[in-house]
Amino acid sequence: MQITPITRRKSQADVPVFAPLASRPLGIWDSFATARRNVLELIPAASLHLPILSGKSVGRWHMVTDPTANRRILKEAPDDYPKSSVTKDILRPAIGESLFVAEGEHWRWQRKLAAPVFTHRNVAALGPVMTAAAERAADRIAASRGRAADMLAEMVQATYEVISDVTFSGKDGFDRDALNRAIEAYLDDAAKVSILDILAVPTWVPRLSRERAKRLLAGPKTSADGLIEARKRDGARPVPDLLDLLLAGGDGSDRQMTTQELRDNLLTFILAGHETTALTLAWALYLCAFDPAVQEAARDEAAGVLGQGPAARPATAEDVAKLPYTRQIIDEALRLYPPGGFMSRTAKAPDVLAGHEVQPGDTVSLPVYALHRNHRLWEDPARFRPERFADRAAIDRYAYLPFGDGPRICIGASFAIQEAVIILATLLARFRFTAVPGRVPKPVMIVTLRPEGGVWLEVQDA
Ligand code: HEM
Repeated sequence: MQITPITRRKSQADVPVFAPLASRPLGIWDSFATARRNVLELIPAASLHLPILSGKSVGRWHMVTDPTANRRILKEAPDDYPKSSVTKDILRPAIGESLFVAEGEHWRWQRKLAAPVFTHRNVAALGPVMTAAAERAADRIAASRGRAADMLAEMVQATYEVISDVTFSGKDGFDRDALNRAIEAYLDDAAKVSILDILAVPTWVPRLSRERAKRLLAGPKTSADGLIEARKRDGARPVPDLLDLLLAGGDGSDRQMTTQELRDNLLTFILAGHETTALTLAWALYLCAFDPAVQEAARDEAAGVLGQGPAARPATAEDVAKLPYTRQIIDEALRLYPPGGFMSRTAKAPDVLAGHEVQPGDTVSLPVYALHRNHRLWEDPARFRPERFADRAAIDRYAYLPFGDGPRICIGASFAIQEAVIILATLLARFRFTAVPGRVPKPVMIVTLRPEGGVWLEVQDA
């Protein structure tokens, strides 16, 4: 379908909300206070213009916003740039040495077992779960017509329904709500960067909030183990879920995953996949309300495939290819508000990145939020222009990293995109969303980039 090009005014009001970056690099104590408040404010504003910034606080650090250097870190020499310990220490108590956390051989083995789970065919087969969650979300939101509703809360619920249905699809006494509560408490509490992390105190010194969060997860972990054991006994479900696909993984020469390894990886899919997709959708809806002309064009596209208003049907995996503009809105939401807005690595070998010398032990960060807004790489970077993704070949792969890249690229990227397009198109075909004056969400990143205050939008029938 042809989308009518959108004519825009050029004024400040055309720029969606952004986080103010640091006017200068921060010292240790300022860094600590800032990281607890908003990691984005640690990024010096100069990284919106320069390819690399280097400095020294606890140790030497580099912030890289140069595509060639990004390619080197993520794709050419990933073994020289393992994930830095802060991220891993935050996640390890919840998900052990699973795919997201592991390095070296242990990572390679798990990635090989997990890769077949996310083939195009398997992801497409999970489409009906996404369609059903989109329809339930639309039915819930319909009850808010005529008033404002928090789209962040709605999207968190919808994506949790999807991920829990495709990981632990059996009801078999498994308490999903308890797991959800534990995960939310974990992300809210334990994930706050601890002062002990900033000062690089060894991880065997317990972080109190993280210990509390670990205890919260103990119950849900035990019941997940019970469910996995039962599945091993009873065999796969008629429509295989992620647990069945992981159990079927391997080429015969590998050892299978133990119950604990399976559980940690399923929890990883939930932790890495559910909130990130919800945030993408919440920001996309904020942007659609911010720019009604974009919303109208996306609605025309969705209506052409699904119908319009209360009679519209929910989108399916087969519809995704017919919804290219909806996909561009998701791509642009991921550019402006990447849920993984800051990736951190620790250099293991001497190197040179964008002309700066790197030594073993240096912290090498990819401030994805700033990369996606870098003036050397993007035209009018602060503006919301989904059309910039109409020609994907024109986008430099290493200037746009919402899912990372190289061997550690997000394993669930196509799962997330399919889910986000299905849910966004379903909602735009049924509703019209309007911004609520004075309720602009603030981009705040602790572990993921969240819209602080939620995304409150007024809902009407389309
Ligand atoms: C819009 C949604 C999502 C975003 C923005 C996102 C972002 C990312 C990023 C940036 C990484 C790389 C981190 C790094 O290299 O430091 C990553 C890795 C990963 N993601 Fe996602 N993700 C999303 C959805 C998902 C989903 C739906 C799943 C699973 C169902 C998932 C599972 C994983 C796993 C397991 C890894 C680690 C892969 C490895 O290290 O081999 N993610 N994700």
